[in-house]
Amino acid sequence: MVQCVHTVKELRDIIKPLKAQGKTVGLVPTMGALHQGHASLISTSAKQNDITVVSVFVNPTQFGPNEDFDAYPRTLDSDLKVVEGAGGDIVFAPSPKEMYPSADDTWVEVTGDITKVLCGKTRPIHFRGVTTVVTKLFNIVGPTRAYFGQKDAQQVEVLRRMVKDLFVDIELVIVPINREDTGLARSSRNTYLSSEEKQAATVLSKSLKQALEDFKAGNDNLDNIIKSVTANIQKEPLANIEYVECYGLPGLYKLDTNVVAPSLLAVAVRFGNTRLIDNIILE
Ligand code: PAF
Repeated sequence: MVQCVHTVKELRDIIKPLKAQGKTVGLVPTMGALHQGHASLISTSAKQNDITVVSVFVNPTQFGPNEDFDAYPRTLDSDLKVVEGAGGDIVFAPSPKEMYPSADDTWVEVTGDITKVLCGKTRPIHFRGVTTVVTKLFNIVGPTRAYFGQKDAQQVEVLRRMVKDLFVDIELVIVPINREDTGLARSSRNTYLSSEEKQAATVLSKSLKQALEDFKAGNDNLDNIIKSVTANIQKEPLANIEYVECYGLPGLYKLDTNVVAPSLLAVAVRFGNTRLIDNIILE
């Protein structure tokens, strides 16, 4: 039976004795509205650790003023079922006041291009909110390992940088993108899509897959790759492109004329009011 707690003290009271017994702890940070993508993070953690803690917290500091913080789906009852089904043990669902107790905030921020390219261009405060809340969760739980999805590829790179630079002694485990049969990457925001938009959004995975095939066949010119992915997505009338970009891995470094393996090819595209992201690694 999954235990659900809402305060830092309750969670620490449960975890401390378990850690004293030498048990390993996996942390799966989420914003709730859990789907099969999250379930795959939770089940991976359950296989690799004695205890799996899933945090469910819609983190206000990673949303910009005109973003979907208020509309973001909050579904704690069904989230508990997903956690249970995937083998998680404890859900930590704190209030904003619990996570941000002071009137003035303390921030953890990764600076530089890594947080300014891709989503950082249109979401300037987003990654500061993510690194701050993830640091809080790391300090509250003290996990052995923490689990993140490759769908948020820039978040993964930013968190890797933070963990390295701050000497955080936690292993980051990155779980591959979980896709529907149509190829659409699973996301809590998919619930905003109409059925027409959902069908249209399959253009993203198709275009990225095509780019990987072209890259493997020898097309490694950066401009050509970006142009052909853009053209493929633009064939879909409901798609409104925010970016199609490619950066070198690790660290999202700027590429010259040719794409070097491994590189991250990433897109952000709106379907109606819904902004979706997807990516593929060219390797
Ligand atoms: O990936 C997410 O859902 C969020 O950015 C995270 C890591 C839970 C932090 O709020």
